[in-house]
Amino acid sequence: DLPRSVKIVEVGPRDGLQNEKDIVPTPVKIELIRRLATSGLPVVEATSFVSPKWVPQLADAKDVMEAVRDIEGVCLPVLTPNLKGFEAALAAGAKEIAVFVSASEGFSKSNINCTIKESLARYKDVILTAKDQEIPVRGYVSCVVGCPVDGPVPPSNVAYVAKELYDMGCYEISLGDTIGVGTPGTVVPMLEEVMSVIPVEKLAVHFHDTYGQSLSNILVSLQMGVSVVDSSVAGLGGCPYAKGASGNVATEDVVYLLNGLGVNTGVDLSKVMAVGEFICKHLGRETGSKAARALRKA
Ligand code: HMG
Ligand code: MG
Repeated sequence: DLPRSVKIVEVGPRDGLQNEKDIVPTPVKIELIRRLATSGLPVVEATSFVSPKWVPQLADAKDVMEAVRDIEGVCLPVLTPNLKGFEAALAAGAKEIAVFVSASEGFSKSNINCTIKESLARYKDVILTAKDQEIPVRGYVSCVVGCPVDGPVPPSNVAYVAKELYDMGCYEISLGDTIGVGTPGTVVPMLEEVMSVIPVEKLAVHFHDTYGQSLSNILVSLQMGVSVVDSSVAGLGGCPYAKGASGNVATEDVVYLLNGLGVNTGVDLSKVMAVGEFICKHLGRETGSKAARALRKA
C-alpha cells in the first residue's frame, strides 16, 4: 500500500545550489525560496550555516535567512555542522535546523573533517542546545548505500548512525544516497535494516539521480511505507565533497510521479515548473527535470 499523502522536502536552495561554481547572487536565492514557498511545498531548505571556506556558494547564509525568515506557511530549515553554525542560524532567524552525519568514515572526513564518532559527539551538543530552545532538528545520514571514498556501505552502518541521531532527538531522519549509486536492489535491504530500529513514519529518503535510479528508488521506498521525499527543483544539485554526485531527483518529476499514483502532495506542478525555469535561466542551464521538459513542450 502506498501512503495517501507524501511530504516533499524541497532542498534546491541548499543542496541544489551548494555545488554551483559561480556564486548565485543573494537576491536570486531569496527570490528562489520565495517562489518555492508559494508552490505548495511544505518545507524549503533555505541554506547552510557551514564554513564559507568549505562551501563558498552559501557564504551569504545570514543575508538569505534574514530575508526569508518571515515567510509564512512554510518551514525553512537550514544545515548546521556545529554549535557555531547553530548559533549563527538562530541569530539570523532560523526556526528549524538539520544536522548531517555520514554512514561511511571516508565521506565523514572529506565532508566535515572528522570521524563519525566525533561528528555524533558534536551533534549531541547541537541537538541538546536546540532542544533547550525548542528548535526542531532533522537528521541526515549520507552515503546510505555507497561512499565516494570507501565504496559500498553496509546497511548496518546506516542503521547505527540513523538510530544514534534518532535517539539524540531528531524528529526525522533523511537517508541520503549522496552519490546516487543505489538501486532498489541496495535501497530495499538498507531500508529494511533502518526500519528495524526506527519507525518508518520518522524516515525520509533523499536520492541523487547520478545513475537515473531515483524514481525507482522512491517508488520502492513508498511501497515500504516512507512518506517523506527530498527533492530539488529542476534537479539541481550535487555535493562539493562527493565527486561524481549529480543533481538531486527533480521535484517536478517526483510531483508528476505522485500525481500519477494519486498520492497527495499539495504541490502545484505548474508553479514548481515556473520556479525551475526561473532558476535555470539564471544558471544558464537546461532543466534536469524530464517532466518539466516534456510538459513545457506539450
Ligand atoms: P574544520 O575546518 O574542521 O573546522 O571544518 P574548524 O572548527 O577547524 O574551523 C575552521 C574555520 O571554519 C574557522 O575559521 C571556523 O571559525 C570556521 P578560521 O578561524 O579559519 O577563520 N567555521 C565556521 N564558519 C562558519 N560557520 C560555521 C563554521 N564552523 C567553523 N558553522 C566544518 C569543519 C564542519 C565547519 C566544515 O567541514 C564544513 O563547514 N563542512 C560543511 C560541508 C558541507 O556543507 N557539505 C555539504 C552538505 S552535506 C550534503 O550535501 C549531503 C546531504 O545532502 C545528504 C546526502 O545527499 O546524502 C545532506
Ligand atoms: Mg544531498
